[in-house]
Amino acid sequence: MAKLAIIYGTGFGNTGIMAKAIEEGAKSAGADVVIKKVDQASPADAENADAVAIGLATYKGAGMPTVIKFVENLAKISLKGKVGTAFGSYGWSGEGPIVITKMLKGYGMKVLEPPLRIKRIPEEEGIEECKRLGKQIAEMIQ
Ligand SMILES: Cc1cc2nc3c(=O)[nH]c(=O)nc-3n(C[C@H](O)[C@H](O)[C@H](O)COP(=O)(O)O)c2cc1C
Repeated sequence: MAKLAIIYGTGFGNTGIMAKAIEEGAKSAGADVVIKKVDQASPADAENADAVAIGLATYKGAGMPTVIKFVENLAKISLKGKVGTAFGSYGWSGEGPIVITKMLKGYGMKVLEPPLRIKRIPEEEGIEECKRLGKQIAEMIQ
């Protein structure tokens, strides 16, 4: 079964809500999903997947450092040709998912753009957008 790895960092849970909605959307379209917080994830999770979705909130003008570091470490494995995307909750500037998008493109992934960014707490419409993204990814890797 086509596999999606969702790896994310969240301070207050908003990006976590997005991650779970993406998971739901991808599962509804038949994908196998591995979802992990960044501190429990390893590069093998990305290596063993057909698609990788990286989530992170923005703090102080930058993406969460733990997630940036995780994605830097992905340089050690081959992600070429896999589907990639970034997402995250933000307050006003939302740099995190933009930076990750550039990094994933640098690894030769097929990256969905623009990254999905939701202001603050995802509401019904935002959650639907996340589910649609999950479905879209699942369809791309089937
Ligand atoms: C100390 C602090 C700094 C923040 N800095 C930024 C920022 O520079 N740019 C931005 O877009 N949002 C910023 N935010 C807003 C968060 O990104 C926003 O609250 C987001 O919903 C947090 O997502 P999370 O619940 O997944 O951690 C900041 C929030 C806090 C508490």
